Amino acid sequence: MKIIIDSEKRIAELAAQRYVKLLNEKPAAVLGYATGSTPLGLYAELIRLNKAGAFSYAQATSFNLDEYAGLDGSHDQSYRYFMNHNLFDHVDIRKDHTFVPSGLDLSPETAAAYDKAIEAAGGIDLQLLGIGNNGHIGFNEPGTPFGSITHLVELTESTRQANSRFFASIDEVPTHAVTMGIRTVMNAKSVILMAIGKAKAPIMKETLQGPVTENVPASVLQLHPDVEFYLDYDAASLL
Ligand code: GLP
Repeated sequence: MKIIIDSEKRIAELAAQRYVKLLNEKPAAVLGYATGSTPLGLYAELIRLNKAGAFSYAQATSFNLDEYAGLDGSHDQSYRYFMNHNLFDHVDIRKDHTFVPSGLDLSPETAAAYDKAIEAAGGIDLQLLGIGNNGHIGFNEPGTPFGSITHLVELTESTRQANSRFFASIDEVPTHAVTMGIRTVMNAKSVILMAIGKAKAPIMKETLQGPVTENVPASVLQLHPDVEFYLDYDAASLL
């Protein structure tokens, strides 16, 4: 495990350099992307570097971690919309090479097919993660089996509460989501997890220094052979 602690701006720049290196070495890399406010600085930096010609996404493929159940990709709170708006629309990636789990087709077969599609693409080279206050990665809430693949989940009240800031009211926050499973994430060749802000400090301590337990989904990363944590000073303040 490698832990990088720096300013919010600097960790976005350092994480972006991972993509520049990877995509220059392997232009057809498979990328696992995440949503939330945490990766926004990284995405802005990737857009800047892509426009400046530091690397190209022309041959790359991406798979997003998760999607809200019931939201179509044109809904402004869907994660498809988020990715288009915050990254894909501004870089040279082929839209038909970007994948986000379906929020409308919730069958277990369709969810399992997402893992198959990742495998068929050659597996994820670099998986990006944020972290929920309760340790969730993707939408794998505490208690999710480490052996899980892409599946439908019921969101916890605390996650719906935390994410309600993006919706008009809590009633509009979906109750379910489709997410890559813990095994899907652990199958990625390399993983980077980013965390920003004081509110993430307690869960980062548990994730990095607590026991590996399904009660803290992100703690499973202690077992990953190639994982880097990019923390700002606040998120690292309890380590
Ligand atoms: C959502 C996403 C997660 C993300 C988390 C943290 O629940 N499903 O992938 O890591 O929010 O979001 P933020 O980065 O806004 O704190």
